[in-house]
Amino acid sequence: MGKIMVMEHPLIQHKIGIIRRTETSSKEFRELVGEIAMFMAYEATRGLKLRDIEIDTPITKTTVKELAGKKLAVVPILRAGLGMVEGMLTMIPAAKVGHIGLYRDPETLKPVEYYCKLPADCEEREVFVTDPMLATGGSAEAAIAMLKEKGVKNIHFMCVIAAPEGVKALSKAHPDVDIYIGALDEHLNDHGYIVPGLGDAGDRIFGTK
Ligand code: URA
Repeated sequence: MGKIMVMEHPLIQHKIGIIRRTETSSKEFRELVGEIAMFMAYEATRGLKLRDIEIDTPITKTTVKELAGKKLAVVPILRAGLGMVEGMLTMIPAAKVGHIGLYRDPETLKPVEYYCKLPADCEEREVFVTDPMLATGGSAEAAIAMLKEKGVKNIHFMCVIAAPEGVKALSKAHPDVDIYIGALDEHLNDHGYIVPGLGDAGDRIFGTK
């Protein structure tokens, strides 16, 4: 069973308080989303496995720890998920990066893949899927289903803000996936926006509005 973890770190909460504000510029928004992702990566990687190895310091031989588990990958859901990649890589620089692009079919309303490029050995990796806003959960569900079809087994989902509706849908569809949430909001409005939320994360990161 996957974990659902809402980040309580004061720095994460403070930074989310700033990105919610209407007057926060795109530059600040982008930088803060990166910083939030960095702190979230720190929290979400607590469970990584370590092994002991023997090394020489200038003084003596000693035993130190090194990461021993699966290699990591970050997979942003285009486009807003891109805003979390640099921050994640600051914490886990050896991770490879894949990309998944989805659009909503206007007739079926189902998410359809338009782009998918993953590291060749992705199924061997522990994968962190990023999307700042978990709203209905439709894109996250579809992206994770695509990763599973390609053989990926260890999947974590990271978002800055989640609606309870999205958390419920995602954890029901993929109960094995850990969900890391910066802040859990009240609900979704009739237009699919998270309330109180922060508006359209992609537009605010890329300044397209
Ligand atoms: N996507 C966003 O960018 N914002 C929302 O509030 C919901 C989905």
